[in-house]
Amino acid sequence: MARTTTPSYRCSACGWESPRFVGRCARCQEWNTLEQALAAPNRAVPAARRPAAVAPAPTLTFAEVVEDADTRLRTGIPEFDRVLGGGLVPGSIVLAGGDPGIGKSTLMLQAAARLAAAGARVAYVCGEESPRQVKMRAARLGAESAPITLIPETNLDSALAAAEGAGATVAIVDSIQAMYVEGLETRTGGPAQLGEAGARLVSWAKSTGTATLLTGHVTKGGEIAGPRLLEHLVDAVLYFEGAEGGTLRVLRAVKNRFGATDEVGVFEMTGDGLRSVENASAAFLEGADPEASGCAVTAVIEGTRPIAVEVQALAVPSYLASPRRVSSGLETSRLHLLLAVLARRAGLSAGQMDVVATVSGGLRLRDPAADLAVAAALASAIRDQPLDRSVALLGEVALSGAVRPVPNAARRLAELGRQGFDRCIVPPGTPPVEGVTLIPAANLKAAIRLALGAPKPAPEPAE
Ligand code: TYD
Ligand code: MG
Repeated sequence: MARTTTPSYRCSACGWESPRFVGRCARCQEWNTLEQALAAPNRAVPAARRPAAVAPAPTLTFAEVVEDADTRLRTGIPEFDRVLGGGLVPGSIVLAGGDPGIGKSTLMLQAAARLAAAGARVAYVCGEESPRQVKMRAARLGAESAPITLIPETNLDSALAAAEGAGATVAIVDSIQAMYVEGLETRTGGPAQLGEAGARLVSWAKSTGTATLLTGHVTKGGEIAGPRLLEHLVDAVLYFEGAEGGTLRVLRAVKNRFGATDEVGVFEMTGDGLRSVENASAAFLEGADPEASGCAVTAVIEGTRPIAVEVQALAVPSYLASPRRVSSGLETSRLHLLLAVLARRAGLSAGQMDVVATVSGGLRLRDPAADLAVAAALASAIRDQPLDRSVALLGEVALSGAVRPVPNAARRLAELGRQGFDRCIVPPGTPPVEGVTLIPAANLKAAIRLALGAPKPAPEPAE
């Protein structure tokens, strides 16, 4: 019989387990991240002691599986329902993560109020804030009179018992890190606590059929604390994104068992809560300055919809030995890569310049189809020469400088057309679309020439 180990220490950063305490995690090499985990029960029962008569589990064929009618609970917040894949599924668990102050509690309370008004029984576990604070927020949202059951409790089991007692069909736990499970020796919000709390919540939600929403803080690394533990347990994981100081919020589904992943909901934070933004492109393009250099527009596909966004770049002479490269909404490695391709393949070097690149509205660019627009924004910034504002760009850029085709080109172009971009620089072979004039460019150098014209007489020496 195989020996069973009972891991009793777990890394809070990556989830690695060790039977002994060690100062440094062997997987992610972080120091002081190991914490005591709940010892797994020894499940190996010797064959001789196994009960003789085990009731066999029921079996089914597809034909026998009864399809449920659509029982989703609509939150009544269009962009939230979109990200959820149409609404909350009874018995499922959704985790909403994001930086403190981004609007998690606001969205939960707005959803709670709408659901309660529509007849759902909503229990709101406020583990983090006092009922007075929640009431003040509700007043701000105009939801003070909503028939919501508040449960000010941090003991998870008591809170769930109270929610069950109140006959909740929807339970909101704000936040999961504030809750603790009795009998565990570890700190509240630590991985052992989170793992156990998550497991209890899942079985509770399934057994009671309660649609459960959790909020979770994000660590400095941008992940929900104890991410592996929770992400695998819950049915859907949504992350809030948004530029610091900005009012636009993007709620992105990174996992969804009941809907499309990578679907996004776009909101605007207003004086009285989050407002759903239907025309996302217009919101992301708002405030763009046609005269500024370093700005380029493209269309990304977020979940099921195309969204037009603006990439902004700035390049200024650097006084540092190694000039700075700063990006937000864009991987720094992508910025480095595109700067390298620009230098080598288009003769545009930012060698002695500090370079900053951002994406409008705080959206995180993941779509490689935005490469060409990022490169064009960088080229325009390096040359301090604005791009023609009626031209958008689409294309993935290869290390060779080749402009590669992008998926869903027709939908992206149609969206750009709707936003008033009647010309677009595209990869060769892109099928025509009504209302947008396509300007094919085979490589980055050609694309930059088309977007910016010929270089000024005295170009800077290469790196
Ligand atoms: P909150 O939902 O408490 O964030 P989280 O739960 O993610 O930490 O939102 C806090 C911020 O939102 C705070 O800075 C105030 C702002 N806010 C508004 O601008 N309008 C509103 O109607 C509300 C309720 C909050
Ligand atoms: Mg909160």
